[in-house]
Amino acid sequence: MRLAVLASGNGSNLQAIIDAANREEISGSVAVVFSDKEESFALERARRHGIEALFLNPGHYSHREAYDSDVVYLLREREIELVILAGFMRLLSPHFVEQYRGRIMNIHPALLPSFPGVDGVKQALRYGVKVSGCTVHFVDEGLDTGPIILQEAVKVYDNDTEESLQERIHEVEHRLYPRAVQLFIEGRLRVEERRCFIDEE
Ligand code: GRF
Repeated sequence: MRLAVLASGNGSNLQAIIDAANREEISGSVAVVFSDKEESFALERARRHGIEALFLNPGHYSHREAYDSDVVYLLREREIELVILAGFMRLLSPHFVEQYRGRIMNIHPALLPSFPGVDGVKQALRYGVKVSGCTVHFVDEGLDTGPIILQEAVKVYDNDTEESLQERIHEVEHRLYPRAVQLFIEGRLRVEERRCFIDEE
């Protein structure tokens, strides 16, 4: 299966997916990495692995819809079947979601529906939760509101800083995200209303 990863930042989740594909734990390949930030290290990671790295400057577009429709065009042109958001810092327009309904995933560094949006780790720490974690979910029109695919808890310690908690959450993310992608590729994710079930092999 041809995968696209959309990322704005460091791309450590992208790396985990590339590595999992290279180890054949994912039976698909990252065909393209797309970013809205030219300096995103995710683009560099893609180039290092011989993967097409694409950047589109949002500053050159007057509307989100126009930008997204170019992104969708590029993805369609490359026959992408699953769109993987990995630290992509833009809310997708309804047009984008409609074009790839049920075929867009995101990873969030908190246990949704708690602490959606940006700075999920910071929000959780400030709130004072004793357990946080991460969530892989399908993307719908809302902000981190789509059906939850996988979720795993991470304990919060008294001496945690945003960085230390984020680091432990990242470790879990790097395991969880490739697993969710592979479940999708195997056709084992079934969504009924809000609930996502994992079918037996
Ligand atoms: C991850 O923590 C993910 O949960 C959030 O953005 C971060 C991206 O990290 N959506 P990276 O760029 O994959 O290292």
